Order: sequence, then structure tokens, then C-alpha cells
Amino acid sequence: MSQLATTIRTRRTAYDFASTPLSPDLLRELCEVAICAPNHRRTAPWRFVLLGSESRATLARLAAEQAGGGVEAYAKAVAKWEKVGALLALYAVSSRPDDLELVREDYAACACAAQNLQLLLWERGLAAQWCTGKVTRLPEVRRLTGCGESDTFVGLFRIGVPLEIPDPIRRHSGEQAFKHLP
Ligand SMILES: Cc1cc2nc3c(=O)[nH]c(=O)nc-3n(C[C@H](O)[C@H](O)[C@H](O)COP(=O)(O)O)c2cc1C
Repeated sequence: MSQLATTIRTRRTAYDFASTPLSPDLLRELCEVAICAPNHRRTAPWRFVLLGSESRATLARLAAEQAGGGVEAYAKAVAKWEKVGALLALYAVSSRPDDLELVREDYAACACAAQNLQLLLWERGLAAQWCTGKVTRLPEVRRLTGCGESDTFVGLFRIGVPLEIPDPIRRHSGEQAFKHLP
């Protein structure tokens, strides 16, 4: 198996990360590689935003408030959004927000870049959790990251050294995923 195939096969979403901060330079470098992704019409729709400690604290507060507030909700939100090696947002700026087909294409290009990033991280012993939960739909979170009204929020990515790697997943068989027509 090629090195790339091994990286793809072994990569897992992690949920628990060391809070040791990752270097912003490393993240920038990995994002620059990740955007070497297929992109119809070469619209370069990707916007990666690295959240610093202040914006992570704001995000944690917003998440805690969304969860009803209180000490427990706040502690949970801090653990999730602040105690990670890095937190990245990704959104797609569409060249033609009025054209759904192009919006889909721009989102798809960003999803390719997101997976590139996850694989690059994995190759270095790092991992990510791609998050699209309800906190990502808060207008304040979109505003915090600079995601405009007509942009498509792709997700928040919790990143770091994984403290635990989930067991390998039993993937669906290739039989279901691949058909060879005569
Ligand atoms: C578009 C997208 C959105 C996702 N959103 C979430 C999420 O909100 N929370 C989460 O824990 N995982 C999320 N994930 C990660 C998936 O749950 C994960 O990829 C899946 O369980 C398979 O596990 P694996 O990544 O280890 O192969 C998302 C993945 C994708 C592609």
C-alpha cells in the first residue's frame, strides 16, 4: 500500500486533544498545501481562519450560552473549544452566491481542502475533529470568523495531538460504493 493510502485508511476523527498549542506557522503551511485541491473555475473559495485565545474564549462563551449557561455548560464549552492545540474555521466564499450550482462547487472544493488538511495533520501525528454542530450556525460565530451572509460555513476544526485514537471503523464494502458498468 502506498504511504498516501495508509494515511487515508488509518486517519480517524479524534475527540480528545492535548491542549499544547500548535504553531500558527505550521497551520498556515498546512493550509497552504491543503488548498492545492480541485477547484472548478479556479475560484479559490477557501477561507481558513485560525482562532487565537481571545476568539476561542468568545466562542466558548457563545457555546456555553447556547447550551443554557451555567458553570457546567461553561466548563464543557471551555474544554471543547479552548483546550485544543488549535482551532480553525473554514468557510467558502462563493464567486456567485446567487447560483446554487456554483455554491455547491465552491463548497465541494473546500471539502476537498478540508480532507487534505486532515490527512496532512494525520501524517504528522496530529488529528482533527470537523465540527458542524449548532454552534457553527450562530450568527455571532459566523461574524467572529468573518464568514459573510452569502458565504457557506464549512466547519470548525478542533486540532491537536490526539489523546485517544478511536478504534478503526468498519467501512462499508467497496461493493456498495463502486459499480463497474459494462
Ligand atoms: C461535513 C462533515 C461534518 C461533520 N460534523 C461533525 C460534527 O459536528 N461533530 C463530530 O463529532 N464529527 C463531525 N464530523 C466527523 C464525522 O463524524 C466522522 O468523519 C465520522 O464519524 C467518521 O469517522 P472518521 O472521520 O474517524 O472516519 C463531520 C464530518 C464531515 C465530513
